[in-house]
Amino acid sequence: MIDDIRLDASAPLQNQLYQQLAQRILQRRYLPGSRLPSSRQLAQDLGVSRNTVSAVYDQLKAEGFLQGRAGRGVFVHDDIRSDILRPGTRPAPGAAADKSALPPLPQRTDLHISRTEDASLPFQPGLPDLDAFPIRSWNRTVHHQESRRLLRGYDSTQGYLPLRQAVAQYLRSSRGVRCEAHQVIITNGAQQALSLIADVLLEPGDTVLCENPGYRGARHALASRGNQVRPVPLRKQVLDVDALDGLGSAKLLFCTPTHQYPMGGILDISQRMALLKWAQRNQTWIVEDDYDSEFHFYNKPFAAIQGLFADTPVLYVGSFSKSLLPAMRVGYLVVPEPLVAHLVQSKRINGGESPLLIQAALAEFIETGQFTRHLRRMRQLYRDKWLLFQSRVVRELGAWVTPIAESAGMHLVLEGPFDDIALSRWLATQGFGSTPLSVHFIGDGARTGLVMGFASASEQQIEQCVALLKQWFASHPGER
Ligand SMILES: Cc1ncc(COP(=O)(O)O)c(C=O)c1O
Repeated sequence: MIDDIRLDASAPLQNQLYQQLAQRILQRRYLPGSRLPSSRQLAQDLGVSRNTVSAVYDQLKAEGFLQGRAGRGVFVHDDIRSDILRPGTRPAPGAAADKSALPPLPQRTDLHISRTEDASLPFQPGLPDLDAFPIRSWNRTVHHQESRRLLRGYDSTQGYLPLRQAVAQYLRSSRGVRCEAHQVIITNGAQQALSLIADVLLEPGDTVLCENPGYRGARHALASRGNQVRPVPLRKQVLDVDALDGLGSAKLLFCTPTHQYPMGGILDISQRMALLKWAQRNQTWIVEDDYDSEFHFYNKPFAAIQGLFADTPVLYVGSFSKSLLPAMRVGYLVVPEPLVAHLVQSKRINGGESPLLIQAALAEFIETGQFTRHLRRMRQLYRDKWLLFQSRVVRELGAWVTPIAESAGMHLVLEGPFDDIALSRWLATQGFGSTPLSVHFIGDGARTGLVMGFASASEQQIEQCVALLKQWFASHPGER
């Protein structure tokens, strides 16, 4: 009966024996009521200690696989019903679950799982300079906060009040946002802010307008309940405000007015006013994603459209992912007062509070001026990298690509007629990140290029990456 049991050195003998016996019972190779060898016999046959076999038999008895009958030996339990023994209905302990035995999975064709282990490669768009983060002062701040008893329990789902106050103060003074702390909701990154907006504002059948090309994270969140996403074209690298009237009604419009993602344009003041007027006329919410406006290199960035006048229909979204670290997962939403309770309730259901220690440390980091100092240094650093990268692209790659550049942000688009998906994949094999421009488009008519996040690359990596790109273009002569 046990001739086919094989034990080797790959795992503890007891585990192997347990699994093999349990599997054979589940597969009906050992039928209910059949007798197993005595522990002494089996130990001898397998060349293991009797204790090992006794321990496995005891475990299998305790779990109902086996039963002992006084004076007669050990048997496969009579009560193991045949209907639970069909192959696949109950995976053997420790074995991988049989997929066919799972309840039906949702039919979804729109799954884009694009984050990989390579997500922190230099030039990955959206990634700040991880080495320039002031880790010592951050650690000191965390250490300062971590022994506070207050931070060990639950706090507010809306966000730790001192952090909401610090964020409100920062947004009022540096972004012209009209807000008080009670309108601020701390979120787990901008991504959660977008999901909460979709959860609270969108009903079946509502249409969403998104810039085309645009930020995929927003598109996916806003379409996740089956709502239709209608593309809004760009003109001169910014949302074409004049095109809005021809697009029909919509519940909300997602946009990046202060640094269009990914094309980098900046909506000027008259376009901002026209956008707000259009939204008011059409009763449409504007989701303003202000993801990297800290990094405008020569001029102060335009004030957020949220604050252009009182009571704008704007949900303002921001994040510390670019200004500090993506791994912090702290973002924020500023919304008109009547929406606060709805969004907080949605956050309560969808994950609850954000980690309290991080929020408290961040509040202290901002209040003590360390955040502003860090931003000042990063603005300088990213400007230098931007100048270097841009000049190398023009000099070395000018025959193949056109850099699309405003003096802002953390990424540059190198536009050109080449297979951007193939090039981006190849670049990853060389240790450099990028995203293909074409994946940011909705529908047909995608343009091609590479979105390159220069902030995370060192000077040396900038030189290396440009040399690699030159080599690729030179060996793909059709790509021009
Ligand atoms: C346009 C845009 N908005 C927002 C974010 C920030 O997302 P999160 O705060 O979830 O990291 C990113 C990050 O890549 C982005 O590119």
